[in-house]
Amino acid sequence: MFQTFDLSSYYRLLHPRPVVVVTSTCSDGRVNAMACSWFTPVSEDPPTVLIVLDVESYTAGCIDWCGEFVINVLPAELLSKVWIAGSVSGREVDKIKAMGVKLMRCRKLNTYAIEESVAVIEAQVINKLEVSGSKVFIGRVVDAYVKEGVVGRYGWDLSKVSIPLHNWGRSFYILDRGTKHTYVK
Ligand SMILES: Cc1cc2nc3c(=O)[nH]c(=O)nc-3n(C[C@H](O)[C@H](O)[C@H](O)COP(=O)(O)O)c2cc1C
Repeated sequence: MFQTFDLSSYYRLLHPRPVVVVTSTCSDGRVNAMACSWFTPVSEDPPTVLIVLDVESYTAGCIDWCGEFVINVLPAELLSKVWIAGSVSGREVDKIKAMGVKLMRCRKLNTYAIEESVAVIEAQVINKLEVSGSKVFIGRVVDAYVKEGVVGRYGWDLSKVSIPLHNWGRSFYILDRGTKHTYVK
């Protein structure tokens, strides 16, 4: 037996999903950070990724301006910092300061990544479109790097690192050592 689900909340059925912090440079030269759980790989070759941002977000304007963005995967221990990135706007607050994270220069882009990340993906915008109040940025991945020892043959090694998943609002799951793992035969 199915029960009807609120259409305007359909997306909750597509969560939990990883949450990352997107960094970019704004027109005043400051680096801004925002939490983002609506993102997806688009293609493997050439490596391409897509993020979906509220058109009203400060970040959307920053990425429009600088033409590049960084996907920072923060470990679950830093969830409170992810929350800051997702609950106040860079228009009003210096979020890098508020989060208490350190910036490091990107390897390929002109902007900055977060040093406390366990993985960083650098992308240059190759296309963008607006869909019903959302701005979709499609980026060519120009570099990707991870902290040593956290990734194994199949991706994240959850015995070494815990990754946060966003359910909705303030609700999160943590992928870690206790998460059930299986191989398909
Ligand atoms: C866990 C989490 C995930 C979020 N994911 C997205 C997202 O995918 N797209 C989006 O536009 N906003 C998302 N938000 C909301 C933005 O991060 C939030 O509006 C933020 O304040 C925007 O910052 P800015 O104005 O500095 O760009 C998310 C918030 C949280 C807490």
